Amino acid sequence: MQKGACNSPLNFCYLWQLLEYLGEMVNAQQSTMRMARQLTHLCSGSGVGIRKGIMVASRRVEGLPCSISLRGVRVRGMSNLPENAVYGGPKSQSPWKRITLNHLARKYEKGEPITMVTAYDYPSAVHVDMAGIDICLVGDSVGMVVHGHDTTLPVTMEDMLLHCRAVARGASRPLLVGDLPFGSYEESKEQAVASATRLLKEGGMDAIKLEGGTPSRVTAAKAIVEAGIAVMGHVGLTPQAISVLGGFRPQGRNVASATKVLDSALALQDAGCFSIVLECVPSPVAAAVTSALRIPTIGIGAGPNCGGQVLVYHDLLQMMQHPHHAQVTPKFCKHYGNIGAAISEALSKYREEVVSKKFPSAAYTPYRISQPDVNDFVTELDRRGWDKAGAAAAAAAEDDSNAGDPRIGTLPD
Ligand code: KIV
Repeated sequence: MQKGACNSPLNFCYLWQLLEYLGEMVNAQQSTMRMARQLTHLCSGSGVGIRKGIMVASRRVEGLPCSISLRGVRVRGMSNLPENAVYGGPKSQSPWKRITLNHLARKYEKGEPITMVTAYDYPSAVHVDMAGIDICLVGDSVGMVVHGHDTTLPVTMEDMLLHCRAVARGASRPLLVGDLPFGSYEESKEQAVASATRLLKEGGMDAIKLEGGTPSRVTAAKAIVEAGIAVMGHVGLTPQAISVLGGFRPQGRNVASATKVLDSALALQDAGCFSIVLECVPSPVAAAVTSALRIPTIGIGAGPNCGGQVLVYHDLLQMMQHPHHAQVTPKFCKHYGNIGAAISEALSKYREEVVSKKFPSAAYTPYRISQPDVNDFVTELDRRGWDKAGAAAAAAAEDDSNAGDPRIGTLPD
């Protein structure tokens, strides 16, 4: 049956839609209560409940003597994702299914480019989700673009977990990949598996990324995959290795270096990686690596011949206004917006309006108190010896009544 194609009085398409929606919500790993809230909203007049972990939705359908119940969708909450946010927690941003490795492999087979962007917090994750991006990377670039460090080296596991959790709350559709930070996986494969496990268990990620293609990194990648965790590799310029690379330098610019990039990528593929980031390598090198691998390459500063592309959120949006950051924004990054300038302009305007007392005007002063209550309040203040405060309240009430019309957001008296 086609969704939306039926006008029968029994309104089967409604049920179809409801069923589809249920499936999508469950697949999007919504929390139990959030699903119930969304369904209740979707079908006002229907009952939605959770009984013994099974979602039951029922609705009275015109033309039928009884209500119809949809039963049997097992509700899966994500207990590792904090749900105790203020105002009842975040809402789902998208009812679509979570992107999986299978989706990515199918996309790649069909020759469709894979899209990937970094995000570090709830709002950036919501934006990435809403744009329909395939992979959301919680990159350790957070150290530079969010925390203001010059390199990614100071980023800790605790930093990553905090950012991963925020992103997991905001993005329900893209595959979530968390970067293993410097110092969390180099010692042994056991350390690597333990850190990767934390990013999934405590950070709500779907997969991890690690940098480098040396034998010990390949061993770590293999051990993580064997532990049941999907791994994305990263070769070329690996920012965690600037100490040995001699800075943020492009790689693969001579035969030895280009061959090393290729060999590392092949070894990571053999270790079971599902995809490999190629950072700052010449386009012919990226083309050769992409052609040699079965799995998709995701390029950043590597030209068009990759299976997909990734950019850092702050770079592509041109968030950075500070001269230092403007300087270090990479050459390969196209700016798809000038958000930094928009933010600066808005903040300056706000400052000006506060200083000039233009903000908040009556339109942005929505909460009211009735005149009799103001009078009683002033009397109470006077009784306590707060005459000046009483006079201030009376004057403000007069200003309010002079403002006339009911205001935007006015509460009922
Ligand atoms: O940390 C990061 O943002 C990255 C991307 C540049 C691929 O590793």
